[in-house]
Amino acid sequence: MQLTIIGTGYVGLVAAVCFAKLGHFVTAVDREHVIHGLRENKLSLWEPDLQEMLESCRREGRLFFDTDITHASRGADALMIAVGTPSGTNGHTDLSQVDEVIAQLKQGDGVCPPLIIVKSTVPVGTCDELEANLLTAGLHTEVVFNPEFLRQGSAINDFMNPDRIVFGCRSHLAKAALHQMYKGINAPIQVCDRRSAELIKYASNAFLAMKISFANMIADVCEGYGADNRQVMQGVGADRRIGPHFLQAGIGYGGSCFSKDLQSLLTSGNAIGRSLPLLEATAQINEERIPQLLEKLISLWGNPRGKRLGVLGISFKPNTNDMRDAPFLTLLRLCYLYGIEVQTFDPVVQTTSIEGVIQMDTAYEVATDADALIIMTEWPQFAELDWVLMAQLMYQPILLDGRNVLSEETISRLLLVENVIYIPVGRPLERTNLATSSHL
Ligand code: UDX
Repeated sequence: MQLTIIGTGYVGLVAAVCFAKLGHFVTAVDREHVIHGLRENKLSLWEPDLQEMLESCRREGRLFFDTDITHASRGADALMIAVGTPSGTNGHTDLSQVDEVIAQLKQGDGVCPPLIIVKSTVPVGTCDELEANLLTAGLHTEVVFNPEFLRQGSAINDFMNPDRIVFGCRSHLAKAALHQMYKGINAPIQVCDRRSAELIKYASNAFLAMKISFANMIADVCEGYGADNRQVMQGVGADRRIGPHFLQAGIGYGGSCFSKDLQSLLTSGNAIGRSLPLLEATAQINEERIPQLLEKLISLWGNPRGKRLGVLGISFKPNTNDMRDAPFLTLLRLCYLYGIEVQTFDPVVQTTSIEGVIQMDTAYEVATDADALIIMTEWPQFAELDWVLMAQLMYQPILLDGRNVLSEETISRLLLVENVIYIPVGRPLERTNLATSSHL
């Protein structure tokens, strides 16, 4: 098939590369400066395997780039919209980028593919409105909704091996075209009406965010009563009705999707007079995570002013350089208010224009002279650091393990160093036992 994909963020670009790998001819469209970089195989986002796949699809002549929607749409069997739909004002979703695509199709001298596939996450009813809008220009094209469930850091794998694929469409023709597009991917396909498909996306992300906030809420109870949240969630998640995923307590969820989608769903609920209290509690628990964790350090320090906090990992999760809604940004704002100095190390976010951050080249440099360290992102290499050395380099060896990265063995060794305080999430803190401590 000939496919046109509008938007080359991580969703659009991953879709473009994966559809090309499946054997389709794909033209991805974006603004001039973005396309300029992509034509030179330069990616602004860090996503495992994406670079190699992009280069091979281009070599094989199945992936092209363009800046003109009309030009790229000529002869296409379908056009996919994968542009951003950020939070707008008053909790509404900002659909201006989607509207811009539709406006350009309307101005395109009748050049409009027979199928428009909305991949961007949009509020319920949006596809109905877009289709009606196109009709006003005489464009009889079906608009379908086909949500993405791609996690950054494993987006290619999620695309090629999904738990399910959802088609929100009206006609048999659209359904057949979508089946052809996804031929080669072995996954259950759910076909439903567009509004239900639009809600599937929001409800899925809301449920995942709710699971995380639930785990974080129980983690607080565990800390208070000397239980271990990892054990509790292992026991809870072993129930197949609940499942083991997204029950990892920590610093709270971040990223471009969960907060935005939760907010959008809350706004949709309000619009029909429903307050959706479960979602409100989910968001509230998440917002309290970072202030709560920082409070633990402050209670140990006494006066926070002038303290030096080392941060390991600043993106919202490992295997990405995405800083959107990263919990680190909340931490940084609070540190600024308290007068705490912040020095960071991240394996892939190499440069940051964030004011007030001293960026180091290694984790050991971050530890040097720090009054506390916090692990914000669970990069596997953080678990492999020489934690005894890390503690020895610090001015005050206080480690807040925001993702419970350190193994029991590492913690035991760490606690042999003088004056160490290890603060995990969801179980009580541990200190060096004065009787066993040594100057290792
Ligand atoms: C999410 C959805 O998972 C994906 O289906 C959707 O389409 C896009 O949004 P993403 O934001 O890339 O994907 O990352 P995800 O793996 O879902 O993690 C989101 C946040 O939750 C991260 O900050 C992560 O660290 C946090 N998280 C995840 C936890 O705190 N605990 C967990 O158990 C799982």
